[in-house]
Amino acid sequence: MTGKDSYDTMSGKRDLVMKDKVVHLGLFGLGTVGGGVIELLSRKKGKDHHKFVLEKIAVKHLDKKRPVPVPLYRLTADPREILADPKIDTVVEVMGGIDPAKEIILEALKRGKNVITANKALLAQAGSEIFKQALDSGCYLGVRASNIAAYRLIESLISSPFQFEKLIGIFNGTCNYILTEMEKKGEDFSPILKKAQEIGYAEQNPSDDIDGYDTAHKLIVLLGLALGYFPPLDSLFIEGIRRISHQDIIFAKELGYRIKLLAIAKREASELEARVHPVLLPWGRGLARLDGIENGVELRDEVGVEIGMQAPGAGKYPAATAILEDLVSVARGRKLIYPQPKRYLAFKKMGEIKTKYYLRFNALDEAGVLAKISGILGDHNISIKSVLQKGENEKPPGVVPVIILTHRAREDDIQDALGKIDNLTIVRGKSLLIRVEQGIF
Ligand SMILES: NC(=O)c1ccc[n+]([C@@H]2O[C@H](COP(=O)([O-])OP(=O)(O)OC[C@H]3O[C@@H](n4cnc5c(N)ncnc54)[C@H](OP(=O)(O)O)[C@@H]3O)[C@@H](O)[C@H]2O)c1
Repeated sequence: MTGKDSYDTMSGKRDLVMKDKVVHLGLFGLGTVGGGVIELLSRKKGKDHHKFVLEKIAVKHLDKKRPVPVPLYRLTADPREILADPKIDTVVEVMGGIDPAKEIILEALKRGKNVITANKALLAQAGSEIFKQALDSGCYLGVRASNIAAYRLIESLISSPFQFEKLIGIFNGTCNYILTEMEKKGEDFSPILKKAQEIGYAEQNPSDDIDGYDTAHKLIVLLGLALGYFPPLDSLFIEGIRRISHQDIIFAKELGYRIKLLAIAKREASELEARVHPVLLPWGRGLARLDGIENGVELRDEVGVEIGMQAPGAGKYPAATAILEDLVSVARGRKLIYPQPKRYLAFKKMGEIKTKYYLRFNALDEAGVLAKISGILGDHNISIKSVLQKGENEKPPGVVPVIILTHRAREDDIQDALGKIDNLTIVRGKSLLIRVEQGIF
């Protein structure tokens, strides 16, 4: 990278502006996000003090049709061509997956190249190692595109002198789309998932999205940036949206709530709650308002300052914009500061969390059912806030949903009580539990 500093004569201000910076780029991956990066780079051409020169692009299949026109001589199927090129000072990794992305990123950093990556799955697995290498090599490591919902919060999360107290986010566009469509179309999970797969909003193997892992990866990246180390995946409680039915969405609405898949991190003294699961959020406020593929995040710090952000959860332009922000940081010579010293927190056991619960039982439509269920809940110190009992459209005949909203209770107590209730002869199938959460806004 070359360049010289000067004063801004146009504004008369004494701000230092950087001129004629040239960043020589290597790109790993030319799919949805890689194509978006190339498009946005060509739109920005000549409009800034800095210049980005795309030297080489590594892909898997050289003969594939590309989303943007790229001269063939720029393409390579050998990642080492980029790594070994001394002219290339910055690489953008948008190929995804763990192997060979991890080796490529570590090798690029060892060779003194700045790295920008959108790869949340890799960061969740190897973030501590990758950040350590970036620190050791004195390189910029840009991770904004790994969580589009929060990319403009990332720097404040790292550099704030105050720790976060609560962070909640809708981080998966596929899940938010499916839940929104179930509500709009009045259909259950499976047919809506099928439609989402047909229009390309869900993968053919959708587990990463709908079972909550993608959301958990993004939460781990944010926690890693806030705490200085990336907690392992198994330190989080993770549950997806497969068991949510259209009925639950209707019942939740009657009770004044909307169902969302939420990432939650709460810090209390030296203890941390970190979990991903469906929640009931109060209707019409904050993250509960987000429809379709929209993502968002809300954060409150320890002095009570609250900030939030909303962004589309997927797509080439949102991800490519986040990458361009990191590229501009590189051109301006900025460093992404990583919290030092590390802020180690003990993870609270899931059984010890306390919250309110939405419970759905499928029970025989006969006298005394509610008394039996509420008796068991009472025996476990769980008090009931409201009850809905529905008799219409009984499926199977003679079985009705009983919905109970509880006051705050301990997770272990709820789980014990549900185990006992599910064993009652008047209850059919496994009951459903959805935790109730308060938004920040
Ligand atoms: N799509 C989004 O909306 C979005 C948003 C935020 C973050 N992300 C993240 O961004 C990354 C890329 O996502 P994407 O949707 O752009 O993926 P994609 O469309 O599947 O593109 C992947 C690209 O990487 C190339 N590639 C894969 N394996 C390779 C290898 N071993 N060597 C060289 N090139 C290889 C592929 O080459 P060929 O084209 O030759 O097959 C393809 O061009 C992922 O980490 C994803 O999680 C995506």
